[in-house]
Amino acid sequence: MDRDALLKRLDDLNAAALAGGGPARTERQHASGRMTARERLDALLDPGTFRELDRLKTHRCHDFGMEKQRVPGDGVVTGYGRVDGRLVYVFAQDFTVFGGSLSGAYAEKICKVMDMAGRNGAPLIGLNDSGGARIQEGVASLGGYADIFLRNTMYSGVVPQLSAIMGPCAGGAVYSPAITDFTVMVDKTSYMFVTGPEVIRTVTHEEVTKEELGGASTHNSRSGVAHFATPDEHACLALLRELLSFVPQNNMEEAPPRPTDDPPDRLCPSLDELVPMNPNKPYDIKELIAEVADDAHFLEVQADYAQNVVVGFLRLAGRSVGVVANQPAHLAGVLDINASLKAARFVRFCDAFNIPLLVVEDVPGFLPGTAQEFGGIIKHGAKLLYAFAEATVPKVTLITRKAYGGAYCVMNSKHIRADMNFAWPTAEIAVMGSDGAVNIIYRRELAKAEDPVARKAELVAEYRDKFANPYQAASLGYVDEVLRPRDTRARLIDAFGSLENKRDQNPARKHGNIPL
Ligand code: HXC
Repeated sequence: MDRDALLKRLDDLNAAALAGGGPARTERQHASGRMTARERLDALLDPGTFRELDRLKTHRCHDFGMEKQRVPGDGVVTGYGRVDGRLVYVFAQDFTVFGGSLSGAYAEKICKVMDMAGRNGAPLIGLNDSGGARIQEGVASLGGYADIFLRNTMYSGVVPQLSAIMGPCAGGAVYSPAITDFTVMVDKTSYMFVTGPEVIRTVTHEEVTKEELGGASTHNSRSGVAHFATPDEHACLALLRELLSFVPQNNMEEAPPRPTDDPPDRLCPSLDELVPMNPNKPYDIKELIAEVADDAHFLEVQADYAQNVVVGFLRLAGRSVGVVANQPAHLAGVLDINASLKAARFVRFCDAFNIPLLVVEDVPGFLPGTAQEFGGIIKHGAKLLYAFAEATVPKVTLITRKAYGGAYCVMNSKHIRADMNFAWPTAEIAVMGSDGAVNIIYRRELAKAEDPVARKAELVAEYRDKFANPYQAASLGYVDEVLRPRDTRARLIDAFGSLENKRDQNPARKHGNIPL
């Protein structure tokens, strides 16, 4: 063989790999509103930075005529590249090759980049678009999935793991994205379910479409399985880049700072008027978040799920901060099962990756009712308590209005190791709201009163005067400072600045037992 022939052989193999499933299947992919795996990687990564690994790896199946069908790369494109100059490891499932289905060899390719991401301390991004286990390979394929699940678990909390769902993701395949830190879905072209509509019809006789069962809207607003819904694939990939900008490369590093012209001591006069004087009137906590954040920029996570709590990322003086805020504009900001789960998972992500936590509190308590009690609000609320209590990152709390009952303790109170606790003059820190408190402690007196309505109004006023303010908590040192609202941004930045070198750790143990 001469030199030209040697090079031609390489060129031919590369061309076969780059062609994937061929022009007809590529056209079908485009017609369904989806890009190919390589087009997606081009859109995700900094131009020219993608380095492919295992481009020539093929499956080893000899059954069902598979020995005659080998596409170099075998339906998944893997390697590494850069996002804003930072190293990331990637895999992109190629639906044009055997429907993106997972073979043993394909799983090995994914596991290789997962191990490299773990060893080299860089995020792992998976672009999912697959018909699931490659049926022709049987248990070799199932084993391949389990090999991936193991690595998702081993590298959880070591490197950030992001999943984009950009087509089908069904059966046990859903459990890899489920273990990763964030799942982004594309509206109308992606879906996730453990068993599809056909199986459901057979087993439970329910009629449901693919979209209703596992589309982006379902998982973002009903199940809480996904964290973001994006209108198209370009938006999905842009969101992954944006998300990465808030997180560090690994658990030993901090998120990269982003310089800003927004002054750290900028006053926020609009906050003076934010909290209505009537304690039962709602207001939008996102106004506060946008007002204090650098350049009013806030990346909300799970925006459509459990809207009574708001979580997401902002920057303060260029540093990435995770915020958890009760939302008085939705269910009065009450904590329920879904809000507790949403917030707890977010807190644990931030703690695992050295992202300081800001808690903005206006919470009337936990949601009463049999649905919540039977659903296990005790154990789910306990997850949030546990998550805040175990977190060792810098933790700052701001109480804007209500901090009632158990929710006071849970929402990053001083007692569970918050570093700095601020309150606005509008704060009300008490065992419960004035009305409920008076009903209980003055029940006998009110029953005997000549004019119970007038007497109750007096007692409520007295109780409010005593407890519906931050000063008892301040006198006990549970609140470090009562702030004028307009000073909030400056004081938060100052507080986080003072905590930059914080060191704290939990007792040595195999692992804690979070109430799952
Ligand atoms: C092998 C597969 C495949 C699979 C699709 N293909 N899924 N090949 N194994 N799992 C092939 C098809 O034969 C077809 O090949 C090509 O991919 C495109 O598939 P289409 O059906 O033409 O595409 P579409 O109409 O878009 O439908 C997509 C689909 C459907 C909904 C994903 O293909 C489907 O239902 N596939 C089977 C899904 C499934 O049951 N998977 C196993 C789930 S169990 P040609 O040559 O015709 O182009 C599982 C367990 C994981 O995954 C367990 C982990 C623990």
